Amino acid sequence: MDRIVEIERLELDESEQSGLRPLDFGSYIGQEKIKSNLAVSIEAAKMRGEALDHTLFYGPPGLGKTTLAHIIAKEMGANIKVSAAPMIEKSGDLAAILTNLESGDVLFIDEIHRLSPAIEEILYSAMEDFRLDIIIGSGPAAQTIKVDIAPFTLVGATTRAGNVSAPLRDRFGLNFRLEFYTPDELATIIKQAASKLGKECQSAAALEAAKRSRGTPRIALRLLKRIRDFAEVNAEDIITLERAKDALERLGVSELGLDDMDMRYLRLLMASSKPLGLGTIAAALSEDERAIEDVLEPFLLSSGYIARTAKGRVLSIKGYEICGHKSEDSLF
Ligand SMILES: Nc1ncnc2c1ncn2[C@@H]1O[C@H](COP(=O)(O)OP(=O)(O)OP(=O)(O)O)[C@@H](O)[C@H]1O
Ligand SMILES: [Mg+2]
Repeated sequence: MDRIVEIERLELDESEQSGLRPLDFGSYIGQEKIKSNLAVSIEAAKMRGEALDHTLFYGPPGLGKTTLAHIIAKEMGANIKVSAAPMIEKSGDLAAILTNLESGDVLFIDEIHRLSPAIEEILYSAMEDFRLDIIIGSGPAAQTIKVDIAPFTLVGATTRAGNVSAPLRDRFGLNFRLEFYTPDELATIIKQAASKLGKECQSAAALEAAKRSRGTPRIALRLLKRIRDFAEVNAEDIITLERAKDALERLGVSELGLDDMDMRYLRLLMASSKPLGLGTIAAALSEDERAIEDVLEPFLLSSGYIARTAKGRVLSIKGYEICGHKSEDSLF
């Protein structure tokens, strides 16, 4: 696994362990459109006594896809079984999971774009008809056995919607794209998490950390924890703006939340006289193409620092301003 994605995963474990993950819609901040649409579908499914339609979440890492899958199960009053596409290698793996589901269960498959075509094929009839077609034997003697499975809800998550095959995507009745969070939303998340950690965080301090979190709750929570460390060693119960600013400075997080890798990316584009392709950028930064596309670029694109053209990636005027602004501490 590539470096950036690996780091993200480690951070995921950290925030999960400390019980900061919201357990219901009430404590899940932001993504208002998704929440209200989901709430209606959940309510309707419950009224009909049916399983919720299959649901796909997509968007950059750390925005709350896995969290939403757990919230769906909780709101439906259902059990959740968690798996990830790379763990489902053989058709028998999937058959075992599906036949063990109980009526109304949520099956969460992370990184769903990584399922093999053969596994996807099995999933189609399971999703559509709650039926498993198992082929026994091979050649002319091969037989198909049909096994009924309990009505369930498949919740899929992916950082790359473009890599989910069309037939699979079409079988999800509900389809949601998660957006980056505003600084105000992230500040609320930070304050809420601080109180779970037994600390009070001043609003201005929360907003300061929020602005530097790349629109991403996972990063906001990571920064909060580091700021808390600084507050604790200074025997402070309340996280003040001064403490937050000081800690963020020491941690080397820039005011716009851009880290070293972001700056190297932007400077690379600035140094180039023509648009750059993904392969060239990956080679120059010694980074995996997938990680660049999934982790690095979405925030730079949504913040308007870069643009994608038919010929490659280019720096925007806003991007130029940042590079110029920081030119004295160039990383190249
Ligand atoms: N809307 C939210 N409100 C409060 N906390 C949130 C919200 N969304 C995410 N978080 C927090 O951020 C962390 C990361 O969220 P989550 O693991 O659900 O992201 P993800 O989209 O599944 O990421 P990945 O693509 O890496 O799997 C969670 O542990 C959770 O505590
Ligand atoms: Mg996840």
